[in-house]
Amino acid sequence: MTSRSCLSVVLAAGEGTRMKSALPKVLHKIAGLPLVCHVVKAVQATGESDVALVVGRGADAVRGAVEKITANVSSYEQVERLGTAHAVLAAREAIARGYDDVLIVFGDTPLIEAQALEQARARLGEGADVVVMGFRPENPHGYGRLIEENGKLVAIVEEKEANDEQKAIGFCNGGLMAVRGNHLLALLDAVDNNNAKGEYYLTDIVKLAHDKGLHVVGVEVPVDNVIGINNRLELAEAEGIWQNRKRQAMMIDGVTLLAPESVYFAHDTVIEPDVIIEPNVFFGEKVSIKTGAVIHAFSHLEGAQIGADAQVGPYARLRPGADLSAKAKVGNFCEVKNAKIGEGAKVNHLSYIGDATVGASANIGAGTITCNYDGFNKFQTEIGENSFIGSNSSLVAPVRIGDNAYVASGSVIVENVPDNALALGRARQTVKEGRASILREKYAALKAQIKASREA
Ligand code: UD1
Ligand code: CA
Repeated sequence: MTSRSCLSVVLAAGEGTRMKSALPKVLHKIAGLPLVCHVVKAVQATGESDVALVVGRGADAVRGAVEKITANVSSYEQVERLGTAHAVLAAREAIARGYDDVLIVFGDTPLIEAQALEQARARLGEGADVVVMGFRPENPHGYGRLIEENGKLVAIVEEKEANDEQKAIGFCNGGLMAVRGNHLLALLDAVDNNNAKGEYYLTDIVKLAHDKGLHVVGVEVPVDNVIGINNRLELAEAEGIWQNRKRQAMMIDGVTLLAPESVYFAHDTVIEPDVIIEPNVFFGEKVSIKTGAVIHAFSHLEGAQIGADAQVGPYARLRPGADLSAKAKVGNFCEVKNAKIGEGAKVNHLSYIGDATVGASANIGAGTITCNYDGFNKFQTEIGENSFIGSNSSLVAPVRIGDNAYVASGSVIVENVPDNALALGRARQTVKEGRASILREKYAALKAQIKASREA
C-alpha cells in the first residue's frame, strides 16, 4: 500500500464481437463477478484509487456494474475506437485533475493481481516515470515487444511493425502500465497514428518518454496476470485459472478440499479454517461458512450462512437466505431458502424448507414440505424449539408449530399447533381382516375376463 494518490483508467470500450453475445464483453463473469469488476478490485487492493472508466458499447450497464463496487468512478465514452492511446485520452478530464500515479488497465484482462500492480506503483514511488507490465508468453506472436537498452526500456514495437530481430524478443507488453500523472497527458498528446493499423498506440508513449529523458522501465509479471479475454474459450480458461488460485488460497488458509479441482467458488466466498469440503460442491455469491462445518459432496450453495460444526449435504441445495446455526444439519435432497435453522436442528432427508424459522434441536422428518406459496403470495412457517415434525408432512403457511410440539407423519397442517401439543392432520386408518385374499381373487378374475375379450 502506498499513500500516493492514484487514478485507474480502465479501458472497456471494446466491441467484444468474438464473444457473440448481447452482453458487453467486460460484463461476462468470472466467479460470479463481471470481468471489469475484477480489474477494479485489483487496482483498489493497491490503495485508494479513483476510477476513470472508458466505455463504448453498453456504457450504462458497464458503469452500473462498476458503481456497485465503488463510488469513486467517473465514466467517459470513447465514441470512435481509434486505438489504446485515444481510449486513455477519453478520460482526459479525470487525468487532468492531477494524480501522483495513473494505472492504465484493460477491462478484459481480469486476472491482474494486486501484487503486480503494487510492484509497478512501487517503481513509480522509487522515481520511474513510466512502468510497463511485461511478460514472457510461450508464443510472443501478436504482442508488442519490449525493446530494452542497458536495462532501460526505450520503445515498444507492435507485432505489425516489428522486424525479424525484434520479433525474436520474448519479453512482451502485457498492455497494462503505470505512469506518473504529471507526464501522462503530454505524452498521450504527442502520439500519432502513422503506423500499420492507423491507430493511436498507447505503446508509443514509451519511446516518447525515453526521448524526453524520462525514466522508463519494464517489470515482469506472471503470464496469467495479463491474459486478455476475447471469446468464450478464453473466458473458460480464465475462470479455471481464477478457481485454481482461489482453491490454493483456501487450502493455505486452512480449508480442507478433498478434490480441489471439483469445487467452484464465487468471488466473495468466505470460509473459516477447519471446514471440510467434499468433492463437487458449487458456491454461488454470498456464502460464508464457520469453522468445523462439513459440506458433503454434490451440494449447491448461494446466499447462505453456515454456522460452526454444521453439516450440509450430500446433495443439498441452500438458496439465498438459508441461515444454518451451529451444529445444524441439512441432509440429502433438501432445499432451504430464506429460512433460519436453529442450533442443532435437523432437516435430514428430502425436504423443502422455505420462508421459515426452525427452532433449536427441532427434528424435521423426511419429506417435510413448507407450503409457502399459494401462487400469489409467500407466507412464513414457524417451527418451535425441540419440536418433532413427522415424515411426509405438509405445513401450509402461514402456520406456527409450537415448542416441543409433535406432528404426526403424513399430516397436512393448516392450523397453528400449540406448544407441547400433538397434531394429527390425516385420515384415520381402517383395517379389514381377511379382505386381501378376496381382493386378489376379484382382480385375477377381472384380468382373465379382459384377456378373453381381447382374444375373441
Ligand atoms: C495491446 C498492446 C500490445 C500488447 C497487448 C497485450 C497497444 C497499441 N498494443 O494490443 O502491445 O502486447 O495489448 O494484450 O496498446 N481499447 C479501447 N479503445 C480502443 C482500443 C482498445 O477501449 O480504441 C481497449 C480494448 O477493448 C482492450 C484494450 O484496450 O481492452 C487493448 O486493446 P486491443 O485492441 O486488444 O490491443 P492489442 O492489439 O491486443
Ligand atoms: Ca488484445
